[in-house]
Amino acid sequence: MGTIISTVNMKGGVGKTTLTVNLATALAKYHNKRVLVLDLDSQISATLSLISPHEFAKFRKKRRTLSYLLDNAITPNPWKKLAIQDLICPGVCNIDGLELLPGDIELYDEYLVSEMLHNKAVEATGKDFEKVWDNFERILIKDLIKPIVHDYDFIIMDCAPGYNLLTRSGIAASNYYLLPARPEPLSIVGIQLLERRIANLKKHHENTEVLNIKLLGIAFILSAGGLMGRYYKQVMKRVRDDFAPDQLFNQSIPMDVNVAKAVDLFTPVLLAMPNSSGSKAFLKLTEEFLTKIKVNEQQLASAN
Ligand SMILES: Nc1ncnc2c1ncn2[C@@H]1O[C@H](COP(=O)(O)OP(=O)(O)O)[C@@H](O)[C@H]1O
Ligand SMILES: [Mg+2]
Repeated sequence: MGTIISTVNMKGGVGKTTLTVNLATALAKYHNKRVLVLDLDSQISATLSLISPHEFAKFRKKRRTLSYLLDNAITPNPWKKLAIQDLICPGVCNIDGLELLPGDIELYDEYLVSEMLHNKAVEATGKDFEKVWDNFERILIKDLIKPIVHDYDFIIMDCAPGYNLLTRSGIAASNYYLLPARPEPLSIVGIQLLERRIANLKKHHENTEVLNIKLLGIAFILSAGGLMGRYYKQVMKRVRDDFAPDQLFNQSIPMDVNVAKAVDLFTPVLLAMPNSSGSKAFLKLTEEFLTKIKVNEQQLASAN
């Protein structure tokens, strides 16, 4: 069964999408893994980092995006024609094993979700609205990926900033989460807030088989030099005091203009500019990622 990972941070612009697409690319291209990227953010940055807007428009016109599956989960349609397998683009960026379930700029209607869950709660006497909501949140993404979870080594979900229904549902479906961050004091507070929220989510869903989710590691985006670089180094020292070593990636990602430029080519920097410092860092981080997964799996196996 594939390992399910969500890339999360309540802050935007911290490198979630960049990490998701480059990690996925490195796993497929250099480690022969079969990887699916699932874009859970209505800003569709992961989608547009892997396919062009023109290609995306074609998929959207045919309703071949994540929103088709979400609509069917919210308002079950007996005439539903497409399965998740039909929506996945294989061989993206010409890389065998790198696949994408495109996101959408309109993912779901909050009002429709609330109405559907309210009706369910009324129908199922003895079940309160909160319980019905919790259950929906817990199974939404989990059920959505169930038919394909055995087809991949890794399913990586690029989450939106904040803490919306899809992020919570993605976390509930995951084995691990990755946390890209910048070493700034408020960013550290943000990490701690997110950790607390995930702990609450776990408590909320106690006694269910899900939510064994674990932080795989915090990956820092660093400025290379100058005053900013020096300041980031000071904050990193504080970070190392606040977090256990296994909660951090040793490898950080340098600020590299090539990483930003690659977005214009609808290709991860790892493919567009493989010799750039950003690409080299993503490759090393991918190796560390695989080691961390291995160590965690061994710990799990010995605990059982
Ligand atoms: N290492 C880096 N060097 C330079 N620019 C980066 C780097 N990582 C991310 N960026 C740029 O920063 C912006 C935000 O990154 P992104 O991955 O979209 O963040 P998030 O998904 O957390 O909102 C993007 O324009 C991206 O190209
Ligand atoms: Mg993003």
